Amino acid sequence: MNRIAITPLGFAVGAQVTGLDLREPLDDVSRQALLQAWHKHLVLVFPGQDLDAAQQIAFSAQFGTLEQNDFQPHYRDPAHPEILLVTNRKMDGKPSETRNTGRNWHTDLSYTTRPAKASLLLCKEKPPIGGDTMWANMYLAYETLSPKMQAFIESLEAIHDVSLIKGIEQRDPEKVADMKRRNPPVAHAVVKTHPDTGRKALFLGQRIRGFVGFSEEESAPILRFLNEHATSSEFVYRHRWSVNDLVMWDNRCLLHVALPDFDQTKTRHMTRTSILGELSGYYYKGGDDLGRESVLQAIAAVS
Ligand code: OGA
Ligand code: MN
Repeated sequence: MNRIAITPLGFAVGAQVTGLDLREPLDDVSRQALLQAWHKHLVLVFPGQDLDAAQQIAFSAQFGTLEQNDFQPHYRDPAHPEILLVTNRKMDGKPSETRNTGRNWHTDLSYTTRPAKASLLLCKEKPPIGGDTMWANMYLAYETLSPKMQAFIESLEAIHDVSLIKGIEQRDPEKVADMKRRNPPVAHAVVKTHPDTGRKALFLGQRIRGFVGFSEEESAPILRFLNEHATSSEFVYRHRWSVNDLVMWDNRCLLHVALPDFDQTKTRHMTRTSILGELSGYYYKGGDDLGRESVLQAIAAVS
């Protein structure tokens, strides 16, 4: 019988889970205990889990249907479409396209109409120092806004854009063009209710171009305020990886960012699985936001 121990790692987010061998299937009791801990701590760290690709897939699949990574087919493990390689190892003799994955605050696949429910990232190799990841608690970010601001953002929709992935311009232009073709901009509500906990969370990040119906000039300061607030240090857990840490997080109530705080000549190799989320949002065609120029022209026309 496994003896699960759950130890909080951070004030706002994160707990470590020991006492489980993730190569073994979970029994119902353990699965329920994990889900409960996950809903409470949002990020679960399982140290010492030396899983191969098939084992990571099998563990992840106990929490839902796995993403096949069709949104970003160039970066998956050729032998396992469920596994995304987040690595700075050379691929086919060239610098890896995913060496700069996650360098701005984001939610996985927010630029699609099916943002990932969860992601599970396993550290296979890491530099001696750094290469940390941070997560921020979007329930607390929402709950600590004033009631007036909560009311203001209730109907706000943000336009998520794949081309705002930080460093995407350093990738192979053909692959980037393909990513953009596959992923036209998508509008998502800024406030979302978590389907399991019923709590409201902010759905934000730095891959957002602006808000539906707002001009760029209007959007920018609102977005900056909301992102700064959402990623305040009170809401953040910073994970310092060890090899064989598997980290499972809930994308529906977190933002995360991968820090470039390490010697890029040292290998950092991670494998990621993601669980399919619910369909949400819609493809944003644009056109209904009034730019500053058109406002000025409108004034000129009536004056
Ligand atoms: C990801 C990601 C973080 C990291 O794989 O989704 O953002 O630290 N990675 O590699
Ligand atoms: Mn990510």
